[in-house]
Amino acid sequence: MSDKTNILVTGGAGNVGSALVETLINDANNFVVVVDNLQTGSREKIPQAKHNNLKFIQCDVNIEDEITSVFHTFSFDYVFHYAALVGVKRTLENPVSVLDDIDGIKNVLNLSKNTGVKRIIYSSSSEVYGEPVEYPQHEETTPLNSRLPYAIVKNIGEAFLKSYQQEFGLDYTIFRFFNTYGPKQAKDFVISKFINAALKNEDITIYGDGSQTRTFCYVENNINASIAAAFNEVGKNRTINIGNNVETAVLDLAKLIIKLTDSKSEIKHLPALKEGDMTRRQPDITVMKSLLNQEIYSLEEGLKKVLEDTSFIV
Ligand SMILES: NC(=O)c1ccc[n+]([C@@H]2O[C@H](COP(=O)([O-])OP(=O)(O)OC[C@H]3O[C@@H](n4cnc5c(N)ncnc54)[C@H](O)[C@@H]3O)[C@@H](O)[C@H]2O)c1
Repeated sequence: MSDKTNILVTGGAGNVGSALVETLINDANNFVVVVDNLQTGSREKIPQAKHNNLKFIQCDVNIEDEITSVFHTFSFDYVFHYAALVGVKRTLENPVSVLDDIDGIKNVLNLSKNTGVKRIIYSSSSEVYGEPVEYPQHEETTPLNSRLPYAIVKNIGEAFLKSYQQEFGLDYTIFRFFNTYGPKQAKDFVISKFINAALKNEDITIYGDGSQTRTFCYVENNINASIAAAFNEVGKNRTINIGNNVETAVLDLAKLIIKLTDSKSEIKHLPALKEGDMTRRQPDITVMKSLLNQEIYSLEEGLKKVLEDTSFIV
């Protein structure tokens, strides 16, 4: 094991984490440990390893004793900290639990610092930009406007990583993920909810008139750019937007899913959410594009790939 690159992925049983793990374990030189408390993730999402180089440990990163024993069993070179309480509705309904994730960030950082980790890679979020003050949102120049607990925690996470680098020399890469979808996303995300309803010919419900736009990044593009940044100088001690910059109105997303699934679903409108439903988001992805060595999937192409296997979202 010692000649391999040891990598920890927290939240590796989730949507983005499991896709990351799938790519990492394809390299026989990597040994990957997944920790996850299975809150929104599941064992079934964790891929099979061809090279016997993957271990899953059920563990809550916010509980110091649990995650400490993982770090002391393995000697990690790289740590991807992707575990977090996610989902607009879930995080709004559990504002105190969201804040508990600060414990997880501190645990992972302290253990990384004390065990010689080379770099920690953190999944922050477009939510740190809050209700945006400008478009496109640029990593260095756009002011952050985090107000809700989930966004504040991500912002604090970023601050912790930067402080640990400054004071202890622990290198980092921060990704600000914009809406990232794939075949293994949780059932309560907009794309899985719409696909679910469309395949069952049930009503698709939209908050407000559906003119709010989102950018949707297919998970393979996320992983391709993230891996290029995480293991290279170019991503060292840098914050990078990871997403797609093509905006789609939520109403148009619903219509496209109805078309692609040949569904009889009707679109129903609910009152607009009071908070947490930003009107627009659009990342500046100049840096991400320079890292990618593949084309960016259009929404239609990505949705077609998701529809090839809907077993996790329906
Ligand atoms: N997918 C997106 O659009 C998006 C956008 C912005 C940021 N992010 C961030 O990317 C990361 C991955 O998101 P995702 O879309 O894969 O969501 P996900 O819910 O599929 O994955 C999160 C995983 O973390 C696990 N987890 C949660 N709390 C934990 C804890 N305390 N200890 C151990 N495991 C825990 C969950 O069980 C789940 O498997 C998260 O940090 C999320 O905040 C995702």
